[in-house]
Amino acid sequence: MISPVTIEEVKNKADIVEVVGDFVTLKRSGSSYKALSPFTNEKTPSFYVVPSKGIFKDFSSGKGGDAITFIREIDGLSYIEAIKFLAQKYGIEIIEEEQSDEAIEAQNKRESLFIVLGFARDFFVDTLWNHEEGKSIGLSYFKERGFTEDSIKDFELGYSMEAWDGLLKAAEQKGYSKELLEEAGLIISKEDKSYDRFRNRVIFPIHNLTGKVIAFGARILTKEKKQPKYLNSPETELYNKSKILYGIFFAKKEIRKKDNCFLVEGYTDVISMHQTGIHNVVSSSGTALTEDQIKLIRRYTENVTIIFDGDQAGIKASIRGIDMLLAGGLNVKAVALPDGEDPDSYARQLGTSAFTHFIEEESQDIIQFKTRLFMEEAQGDPVKKAAMIKDIVVSITKIDDPVKRTVYIKECSYLMGIDEAVLVAEQNKILLSERKKPGQETRPFEPLVDMPLEEDDKLEGIDILKVIEFQEKESIRVLVNYGKNTIKGQEVEDESLIKYFLAEVEEIKFTNPIYYEILEIFKERLKAGEIIDGDYLLQHGSEQIKKTVVEFMTNKYELSENWEKKYKIHIPKENEILRDVTYTNILRLKFRIIQHLIHEESQKLKEASDSDLDHYLDEISELKKIEMDIAKILGNVTAR
Ligand code: CTP
Ligand code: MN
Repeated sequence: MISPVTIEEVKNKADIVEVVGDFVTLKRSGSSYKALSPFTNEKTPSFYVVPSKGIFKDFSSGKGGDAITFIREIDGLSYIEAIKFLAQKYGIEIIEEEQSDEAIEAQNKRESLFIVLGFARDFFVDTLWNHEEGKSIGLSYFKERGFTEDSIKDFELGYSMEAWDGLLKAAEQKGYSKELLEEAGLIISKEDKSYDRFRNRVIFPIHNLTGKVIAFGARILTKEKKQPKYLNSPETELYNKSKILYGIFFAKKEIRKKDNCFLVEGYTDVISMHQTGIHNVVSSSGTALTEDQIKLIRRYTENVTIIFDGDQAGIKASIRGIDMLLAGGLNVKAVALPDGEDPDSYARQLGTSAFTHFIEEESQDIIQFKTRLFMEEAQGDPVKKAAMIKDIVVSITKIDDPVKRTVYIKECSYLMGIDEAVLVAEQNKILLSERKKPGQETRPFEPLVDMPLEEDDKLEGIDILKVIEFQEKESIRVLVNYGKNTIKGQEVEDESLIKYFLAEVEEIKFTNPIYYEILEIFKERLKAGEIIDGDYLLQHGSEQIKKTVVEFMTNKYELSENWEKKYKIHIPKENEILRDVTYTNILRLKFRIIQHLIHEESQKLKEASDSDLDHYLDEISELKKIEMDIAKILGNVTAR
């Protein structure tokens, strides 16, 4: 048991900003710090660290607490493991009380697993360097492939002998039980026979974020057809393949420093690139990236460069996976290596500076990359081309940021030689149909017609008031165009749009004076028993109102007709989905108003005195909840 004295000392010395800062990029914000939540895929920061209180608070996941809690949450550690981790970081001596004879048994299961995996690593490393078979087969293999001794040591590469029970015997001698070895994925037990999982292979340990071994990948050296090239640890209590990236422990510092993460396919690619001097590199171990892995990358950077092996079929297969990276809010670049090369082979062939130069020169934005790749393939085949255009626009719609989407649409229009309007129409169609899929992952909702944001309005500095005004406009536009319509409901009876609209906006005060005035006229007329639309305003409104109404009444959906004629695809018109449009427009407006409030409260939080902190944190927390609720609805609205 760890002595309370040690725990006390850890608590005193652990600096919350330092501890969190090892995992999350913190930005100073008044007396506290702010960051994107490391626990969710959020797009705007709602993760706070308050140094004066020694706490963190994450509004998007609800997690919060002190440095120890943070370490536990971020690395899935037990309380004891977290204490030990922090003690090591701060050079605090761990005083153990009444250490039992069988220390292994006394510790909890996870710790035992870490220990036995550490033992296995040491065993494989020792075999590689000190045993005849290890040296002559394993070590010479690594050296032949061009790995330096330093790399081999840094990555703790090892070797497993041909014997059936080399590791098993050694481990049992040390007192580790078969059950534990099996739970760690090191041995396989069938009936009453047990044997080593990894035999006659070179070993690549897989490390967690804190550098502890949680699994192994093992490569065969012979060309046996029946055996897979790599054998990997099974999923265990410590190892969840979809949650970790190979090399992340060695890469994390540099990823943050370079603000970019290279993504490669294999273990050997990671090691070779390190050897070339590129340390910000991880591998998804040959499988498609998962959302958890994307989250992991996002803790350190928003920029990813995928290095594709030089084989066309492979690139085409894996390019599908990029949509997820884009949906995860990452900025993605790609570079393809020459035919037949992978990062490992090519880095060795070119050497450090030429390889680095190649990557820098050849990286291009992923949408561009995909567009070029596809256009090459579709040359002279209009049917194929149409399908590919769709595919590319799907990728673009995965991007949440409307500004970015607009830029991409422009660029692709140029690259593909296709009218921008056609692409916009296709985009709108996809966004619309996505909203109708029930049970769909929620994504922050963006207007169908993009808000024309200025270039420098991106995220941080986004002018919420402007966005609110835009949503007001979209709402009023529907009213002016369709005020006399009846909307059909499934749960409710048919209802006039205007009544529905007014009920929905009851508690909202429009900020734009013209829109406010228009709304008042609608209300007034309705009170007098008259249902009106834009035509009434054109006759009776002020000059300014008339001007606004004319603008609103010009049809924005002409675009889709072009598309329909050209490609014979039906695009739902606004009036076909009237209730949906009205509802979402108003909801989006509410969404933005809530965001504005959150922004205001956050400003106050920055200047808040310690005694007011809790108040503001609670307040923001409440608003965040509402924001998320609305976001959820917006992501899931179905046409009614
Ligand atoms: N992989 C795997 N199981 C396999 C084949 C591959 O888990 N049977 C994973 C490994 O993580 C491997 C990655 O997919 O590193 C990429 O596969 P590949 O390119 O075949 O392996 P390399 O790492 O490039 O190995 P080498 O250079 O020795 O061929
Ligand atoms: Mn490879």
